[in-house]
Amino acid sequence: MNIVITGASSGIGLALAKAYAKPGACLGLIARNPAKLTEIAQFCRQQGAAVVPGILDVTDVQALKQWLLDFDHQHHVDLLIANAGVTCIMPQDGGNESWHNTQQVLNTNIYGVFNTVYPLIEPMRQRQQGQIAIISSLAAYRGLPITPAYCASKAAIKAYGEALHGWLKRDGVQVSVVCPGFVKSDLSDQFPKPKWFLLSAEKAAQIIQRGLARRQAAIDFPWPLAVGMKLLAMLPSAVAEGILQVMGYGTAKRHR
Ligand SMILES: NC(=O)c1ccc[n+]([C@@H]2O[C@H](COP(=O)([O-])OP(=O)(O)OC[C@H]3O[C@@H](n4cnc5c(N)ncnc54)[C@H](OP(=O)(O)O)[C@@H]3O)[C@@H](O)[C@H]2O)c1
Repeated sequence: MNIVITGASSGIGLALAKAYAKPGACLGLIARNPAKLTEIAQFCRQQGAAVVPGILDVTDVQALKQWLLDFDHQHHVDLLIANAGVTCIMPQDGGNESWHNTQQVLNTNIYGVFNTVYPLIEPMRQRQQGQIAIISSLAAYRGLPITPAYCASKAAIKAYGEALHGWLKRDGVQVSVVCPGFVKSDLSDQFPKPKWFLLSAEKAAQIIQRGLARRQAAIDFPWPLAVGMKLLAMLPSAVAEGILQVMGYGTAKRHR
């Protein structure tokens, strides 16, 4: 099985790379950090997988496209996991998200995902074979005042993945949108508030791998948080915002 994973140098992507590292697997592992990527590549090779590391920034549209097409030419991609992402949390002094951070989140989490997925759509359609997984978040279901740009980015790629699913299934290409809750990682460590139902990256990778093997269109977990976020989205804004405030995901108080 030929698998490409972006953001494979840490957290969920790293755990997925380890989970898929088996004899017979060929892994294309993408991230920016060469040292971390070398380490994970070495681990995966020890497990019997072939590894093609790609030291790439997913916002570099041309370089990423070329790498993906070259990889696909050599090893037809069976599974593409668009996982790389960053976050941005509102400053706790009541200030605004910085424009720099906002742009970085939108560029990485939205364009980075489009840059990853788009080049392989036509090759997969032509072969009538392949699977695409888009790692969104349960934060896509309802905007959290504590992290506006991140929620917006995750909602955008959730909608993109759902639309691709409906379009590409007739061409034999399966698309899954993955919406995790809190997973222990460098990214979630930046979140200053309670992380309900926190899972390890290894457990998250196991759930994602199982959902992808079943070709599920939506992989939402853990279920109590998934149900909570979906219910929250159905409530009137004032009620939903009250609940988010109580849970600690509301806006910080202004310090004057
Ligand atoms: N952890 C959670 O609670 C949680 C919950 C829901 C959804 N998610 C989503 O899961 C995905 C993985 O997050 P994580 O928690 O595993 O975070 P993480 O440990 O911080 O890992 C993020 C990965 O993305 C890579 N990355 C970031 N920017 C990149 C860029 N411009 N180009 C290439 N690679 C880039 C990083 O590698 P380099 O720095 O080496 O480039 C790293 O491998 C993200 O999309 C995140 O939004 C996470």
